[in-house]
Amino acid sequence: MERELTLEYVRVTEAAALASAPWMGKGDRKRADQAAVDAMRALFDTIHIDGVVVIGEGEKDEAPMLYIGERIGDGRGPCVDIAVDPLEGTNLVARGLPNALAVVAAADEGCLLQAPDTYMEKIAVGPSAKGAISLDASVQENLESIARREDMRVEELTVVVLDRPRHEELINQIREAGSRIMLISDGDVAGGIATAMEGTGVDVLMGIGGAPEGVLTAAALKCLGGELQGRLKPRNEEEAQRAREMGFGEIDRLLLMDDLVKGEDVMFAVTGVTDGYMVQGVRFGRDQAKTESIIMRSKTGTIRRIFATHFMGKKPEYYRKDVFKHI
Ligand code: FBP
Repeated sequence: MERELTLEYVRVTEAAALASAPWMGKGDRKRADQAAVDAMRALFDTIHIDGVVVIGEGEKDEAPMLYIGERIGDGRGPCVDIAVDPLEGTNLVARGLPNALAVVAAADEGCLLQAPDTYMEKIAVGPSAKGAISLDASVQENLESIARREDMRVEELTVVVLDRPRHEELINQIREAGSRIMLISDGDVAGGIATAMEGTGVDVLMGIGGAPEGVLTAAALKCLGGELQGRLKPRNEEEAQRAREMGFGEIDRLLLMDDLVKGEDVMFAVTGVTDGYMVQGVRFGRDQAKTESIIMRSKTGTIRRIFATHFMGKKPEYYRKDVFKHI
């Protein structure tokens, strides 16, 4: 993939973040999400790619934009798979909580797993514990193995877990092993990526979250040298059937990094909507807004942090129409 595209993907996540940030704390997750989707979709039209959405807002009949299979870009560039979450953590924005993000991953055609809109059991770690985890092992075994790699005691590890009733047993097992737990109300993409970012204090993500979010997290971890393992967890027969239709013959199959994100050329862009582990959220000032983004590329391992000041009055017409229309 052309490296020049990295900045283009950041423009897309910036737009989604700028559009959804005004909804912070307003209690309306749907409108926050819609604003991000509208902005992201509009910006994709300006990019020189021939892209297809493999992870998006859902099936064509339920999502008018950024649906799975939609072709995006101006069609004049490379054929790429695109995974998006215009607003990861809709509730986080609605409630003004940290770690809401706008994210995009891109890879060569056929390289990103088209995950059904169901749940996925996940375990994720940063580079120092890569190769030390297995979803087939017990919680205790995983924590012991990670601790050995990190040269830490199991009691010193911090595990991020989504705060959900379905995790009661998992939480008990982590407590029995003796590790510390950080419960999060939403946002396991940020939680998973935090395992691979210095200074977050997070060592491992465990538990069941969205399957599309699993692919996005794996894309980021591929760039950062970490690891995610996943296994689909359909909530009902309908979701299981949909997974089979999408080519998951064996639903229980353990999904490793190369199943989730094939090859060595994936790009991952993220812009903060609210402040978080990785990036700070959007700040508004007089006729301007500031964003912080990270763009990374697995092929080179380069990680760029981009601080931008956006002058609303100077943006092109399409940008003002689609991105700032909610402000
Ligand atoms: P949304 O941005 O779609 O609201 O998802 C937030 C999230 O917390 C994800 O990070 C996570 O993977 C998923 O929801 C968990 O789903 P659920 O809320 O059903 O447990």
